[in-house]
Amino acid sequence: MARYENIVILTGAGVSAESGLGTFREEGGLWAKFDPMKLATPEAFAADPETVLGFYNARRANLSDAKANAAHFALSALEQDWMMDGRSDFLLVTQNIDDLHEQAGSASLLHMHGELLKTRCSQCDHLFFDREDMAIERPCPACTKAGGLRPHVVWFGEMPLGLDQIYQRLDRCDLFVAIGTSGTVYPAAGFVSEARRNGAHTVELTLEPGEISGLFEEHHYGPATETVPYWVRGLG
Ligand code: APR
Repeated sequence: MARYENIVILTGAGVSAESGLGTFREEGGLWAKFDPMKLATPEAFAADPETVLGFYNARRANLSDAKANAAHFALSALEQDWMMDGRSDFLLVTQNIDDLHEQAGSASLLHMHGELLKTRCSQCDHLFFDREDMAIERPCPACTKAGGLRPHVVWFGEMPLGLDQIYQRLDRCDLFVAIGTSGTVYPAAGFVSEARRNGAHTVELTLEPGEISGLFEEHHYGPATETVPYWVRGLG
């Protein structure tokens, strides 16, 4: 097995599915139950903040019982081994807004779609950890004004976070791994092409083939709690 030095891992909702957190586009997924255009856009928040905040408060409450699973822990262990081996670079990019990678101990972690357990004031940009319910009348702890608190989550039409850092790492990675993502939302769905362009070996770990599966050289299909620990064990 080749020895890789610079790894970028991308995770999606599938890595948290076995922790009881729903995915988006599967049968019965979140976007089958709720209209993202009415709940996950800046326009929706401006038009009906109570409904949008209620949706994210419910998702935040749902997170309190969720626990990291074997896939999250395998990725955290891989990061520690990787760095102890003196390899150059490890970056875990997640599209997920849950805190399960943190629970498992991942440190080199970038939430490109934000974090559900953080609240941001859209009036003064104050950002803080928050497990309470967001409400339009709740004053911002920094500027003390009400009316601006929103989830620190990237909505449709907003720029994902950390793209400069992600593309820098993709440009020099020799191993790119996508776990539990349907590959339907850009720019994340385009990361595999970026990595291939730079000669990286590309691996997909997901339940079944998806829209971008043909772009990966190596595939492991099945539940993440089985495929991720298996793949990590086999990594040279
Ligand atoms: N193990 C591994 N993969 C799984 C599992 C599992 N137990 N269960 C589901 N999957 C796979 C599905 O096969 C699918 O490919 O996870 C993927 C989930 O796809 P989506 O629901 O589209 O989630 P994701 O790819 O993370 O969506 C990307 O879209 O709406 C936005 O911001 C949202 O971050 C999200 C982005």
